[in-house]
Amino acid sequence: MTLLLKSDGDRRDQWFRELASRMPDLEVRSWPDLGDPAEIEFALVWEIPHGVLRRLPNLRAIFSIGAGVDHLFADPELPRQIPICRVVDRNLTVRMTEYVVLNTLRLHRRDPEYLDAQREGRWRELYAPTAAERGVGVMGLGALGGDAARALAALGFRVMGWSRRARDLQGVECFHGGDGLAPFLARADILVCLLPLTPETEGILGANLFARLPRAAGLINAARGGHLIEADLLAALESGQIRHAVLDVFRAEPLPAEHPFWRHRRITITPHTASVTDPSSVAELVAENIRRARSGEPLLHRVDPTTGY
Ligand code: GLV
Repeated sequence: MTLLLKSDGDRRDQWFRELASRMPDLEVRSWPDLGDPAEIEFALVWEIPHGVLRRLPNLRAIFSIGAGVDHLFADPELPRQIPICRVVDRNLTVRMTEYVVLNTLRLHRRDPEYLDAQREGRWRELYAPTAAERGVGVMGLGALGGDAARALAALGFRVMGWSRRARDLQGVECFHGGDGLAPFLARADILVCLLPLTPETEGILGANLFARLPRAAGLINAARGGHLIEADLLAALESGQIRHAVLDVFRAEPLPAEHPFWRHRRITITPHTASVTDPSSVAELVAENIRRARSGEPLLHRVDPTTGY
């Protein structure tokens, strides 16, 4: 039983340890040392070069190292008939919720503006309404968005959620589909994007959407850089339509040193660390899915290749 691993250098050794302790009979081969491709039954990968998976004739399942699977669907040669699973993991969800709560509170209490005032040695009092008067809109109500929305609602924010299909979440006013978007945006003083990246959501954070938000809205994008039209964000910051943006993800990562986002006073940048996959908890899911694949049981968190999430 052989698994191909393609992970970041720093976490590769941890994956080896965590997988070995749960499945001593699993042989793990680390990309690019494939050995005989016909021996590989499982792939546990993050951003593997396009075309590689298709050349594994006996592959039985593909596991994304991460909640997102857009890195897999970007491969034009992806063998779509093979089951693809994503990570749904409590630790990953909790970390994302912490990031969303932290940054929603920062924008709500106008923390970036206080930091600016402090840099200038300026005593500047800014008005902040209570959470109950602040609308927070969460785009994407899956494992991550749903948990973040519930946590924000528990803090007293007026939380709205938007998703492709209708959802029902206690304490969250839910909107869906094309028709639900404008009424959802109209009251989102702070907008949080946790959508999967698909052809439908690519570039969704653009001028059209920004124009539908209340004036001086806040934006948090912890989903994918491909959701955002960067020039439109710069224009919306310039016009004051967006007051501040918190960005964890970018079209090019690492964000190039000369990129204008780095030095923009009204953009906060984190280096795609809002939440990370922790091998010590996710190896359990991988082990369970391998057990299921071998006994012919349905896999957990299988992705629908027609929707791409
Ligand atoms: C990270 O971006 C992930 O998809 O988990």
